[in-house]
Amino acid sequence: MTDLATKALNIEDLRQMARRRLPKAIFQFIDRGSEDDIALRHNRAALERIKLMPRVLHDVSGRDPSIDLFGKPHKLPLVIGPTGPAGYVWYRGETALARAAAKAGIPFTLASNSNTAMEDVLANGGGNQWFQLYVWRDMEASMPAVERARDAGFEALVLTVDSTVPYNREFDIRNGVTFPVRITPRNAVDTLIHPRWMFGTMGRYVLAEGHMPRYVNIKIPDTATSAEVRSFLTKNDTLNWDFLRRIRDMWPRTLIVKGVLHPDDAVMAADCGADAVIVSNHGGIANDAGIAPIDALPAVVAAAGGRLTIIVDSGFRRGSDVLKGLALGADAVIIGRATLYGVSAAGEPGATRALEILAAEIHRTMGVMGLTDLQSITRDHVVLPGQLSA
Ligand SMILES: Cc1cc2nc3c(=O)[nH]c(=O)nc-3n(C[C@H](O)[C@H](O)[C@H](O)COP(=O)(O)O)c2cc1C
Repeated sequence: MTDLATKALNIEDLRQMARRRLPKAIFQFIDRGSEDDIALRHNRAALERIKLMPRVLHDVSGRDPSIDLFGKPHKLPLVIGPTGPAGYVWYRGETALARAAAKAGIPFTLASNSNTAMEDVLANGGGNQWFQLYVWRDMEASMPAVERARDAGFEALVLTVDSTVPYNREFDIRNGVTFPVRITPRNAVDTLIHPRWMFGTMGRYVLAEGHMPRYVNIKIPDTATSAEVRSFLTKNDTLNWDFLRRIRDMWPRTLIVKGVLHPDDAVMAADCGADAVIVSNHGGIANDAGIAPIDALPAVVAAAGGRLTIIVDSGFRRGSDVLKGLALGADAVIIGRATLYGVSAAGEPGATRALEILAAEIHRTMGVMGLTDLQSITRDHVVLPGQLSA
């Protein structure tokens, strides 16, 4: 067993390793939700309230957790979701995540605001990669990113629609994690007492590239002041269904809408030509009073499951969580923090460890459930809170 395999037995172990390696401000940036962290906690509570109903005395010796997604086989029912700060937690963390995904045989989604150019991540990460799009205040300046992603050969475009207004993350403001970063005595000390991150991540950018990490998928003039850059990076709150139709016209491959919770919105996405929706609350970041995606999933599946591929995320930390999502009708599950903790803790091997843990848990839970393949999982394999006696 490698060192990581003995130290990290579950995703929470990787989270604790990430907590030790990262400055507190950066750790909170990836770990917390928004406002009072209610949605963050509720995502977990909602998953924990759902129970699995096992079947017994089936020969489960030949378990196969693979799925087909958009006509392609994948070894696990997982996708690594887009997480903007991957390049801040590890030097070229996006490529590390892409490689881990390719090795595990699952897709990787590159965030718009990555610190490594999309073409580099595609070439050096390999595997099946999707590109996630944020639309910035200047809508037309966002379009070249779509053209670049199309020309580079990303297999899917993920349009994120739940983040058109800024998140209310008071802890980030207090921690100085703003744009530009606010250096305070507290976060200066915080950085100094985390030398593995200071030298291993930030120091490496400065040595190798001559500057701190930057957004490289957006064309921001070199002469822009901090205030201009901040204004540029503000997302576009005019986004509407016409924009989705416009993107459909220019994107020739799989188009996925991320951040849908209402069944009627899923139907609208299908009407606009989307291929899939991701039922998501951005890992509890978008709206602290919002519904948990796992609770929203059954209605979305009922309304649009026949027309769309349905993916779910937010709060998935165990293989058993993944099986609950699939039993409620999802075709696949996105993980955000699970692999982000892994890459924060130990780079590509850390992300690989997160996927190994989830793969082993999925495999084991399939056995407990009497399942040899994931195509046989149905609504009968879960019991919702309302069906349980008090
Ligand atoms: C630190 C962090 C950064 C994120 N950045 C992005 C992003 O750039 N684009 C996006 O569409 N979603 C982003 N997300 C949301 C994830 O893609 C995903 O929806 C979420 O992490 C799933 O919840 P989980 O972290 O509980 O697995 C981010 C999430 C986190 C935690």
